[in-house]
Amino acid sequence: MRNESSTPEAVPAVPLAFPQPTSPVTARHADGTLIDRYGRHVTYLRLSVTDRCDFRCGYCMAEEMSFLPRAQVLTLEECLRVARAFVDLGVSKVRVTGGEPLVRHDVVWLLERLARLPGLRELVITTNGSQLERFAAALCTAGVRRINVSLDTLRADRFREITRVGDLAKVLRGLAAAQAAGFERLKLNTVMMRGRNDDELLGLVEFAVERGMDIAFIEEMPLGEIGHGRQTSYFSSEEALARLQTRFRLLPSTETTGGPARYWRIPDTATRVGFISPHSHNFCDSCNRVRVTARGELYPCLGNNDASQLLPLLRAHPTDDTALRTAIVRSMGIKAKGHDFGNQMDAPQVIRFMSMTGG
Ligand code: 5AD
Ligand code: SF4
Repeated sequence: MRNESSTPEAVPAVPLAFPQPTSPVTARHADGTLIDRYGRHVTYLRLSVTDRCDFRCGYCMAEEMSFLPRAQVLTLEECLRVARAFVDLGVSKVRVTGGEPLVRHDVVWLLERLARLPGLRELVITTNGSQLERFAAALCTAGVRRINVSLDTLRADRFREITRVGDLAKVLRGLAAAQAAGFERLKLNTVMMRGRNDDELLGLVEFAVERGMDIAFIEEMPLGEIGHGRQTSYFSSEEALARLQTRFRLLPSTETTGGPARYWRIPDTATRVGFISPHSHNFCDSCNRVRVTARGELYPCLGNNDASQLLPLLRAHPTDDTALRTAIVRSMGIKAKGHDFGNQMDAPQVIRFMSMTGG
């Protein structure tokens, strides 16, 4: 349940973003590359195509969420223009996220076109799996190369509790459909929560091993204002690793997907086990990504509120992407050096939900 009394009055329903017109444009833009002030190359765009979702996971959303009116959301054509500009500037990987991207009407139209952008090497999607049974074949045909599916529990009653409305059986059918459609390396994303699913970590790895899937365990991040007692539910990657090592032999892997996960292999299986540890390990030094929200805010850093507003530019210049490209290049100058979620799990420094920013 949402704890209304813990909601600070000053937190706006719609978080403000702070473009910094005076910030120095120190980014270099040469030969189609985006490089920030700290020398990091940005090659990966996470594009949220909707803030809506058919689930209401407690760590992601309040029970009563108000969603954006349609006019404030990028059209699919605008999403495509944004992605094209990034790819022209050297981005080679795009992840389509939400909210839940598969609840966006006609999202396959967008995916087909994204997959064909010259220069794009990898089109991937993150989904809660609820619509996967219906969409798996179309995603494959459209050119999506990998799918990440959120799965925090294998128990139907818990699944319903964690997502508030979700149906586990449907997600499991979605996973099977994705494998049948030809997706070889599905990845599961599990947010770890003490007392809610930490007793299932071994079971989830077994589930992944049996099906040749990868799995990443995510430390919960303090995003958005949700009164669900994060301080007590926090479960660290270290503890998870120790627990998994009681059952599995885990070999550290130098492999990286270019993301913040550190991976381990289980010998004689296809499965890689990843840990995403925003608290215990800061992964900002090698950050290669930026995020664009469904309403066209470009967030160079997940843990920071600085953003550039792309939507007004898109609408002011419907046929010319010069201003859009300039804004993207300038945004490199406001990419923060790093985030610090610290130990203040119940006091969000970042006042937007994951469903706004794209996971
Ligand atoms: N902390 C960690 N992970 C989160 N996700 C959503 N909100 C949070 C949060 N506050 C996860 C989803 C999904 C991925 C995209 O992000 O469960 O697996
Ligand atoms: Fe939806 Fe994902 Fe947020 Fe859950 S975590 S409410 S599935 S966007």
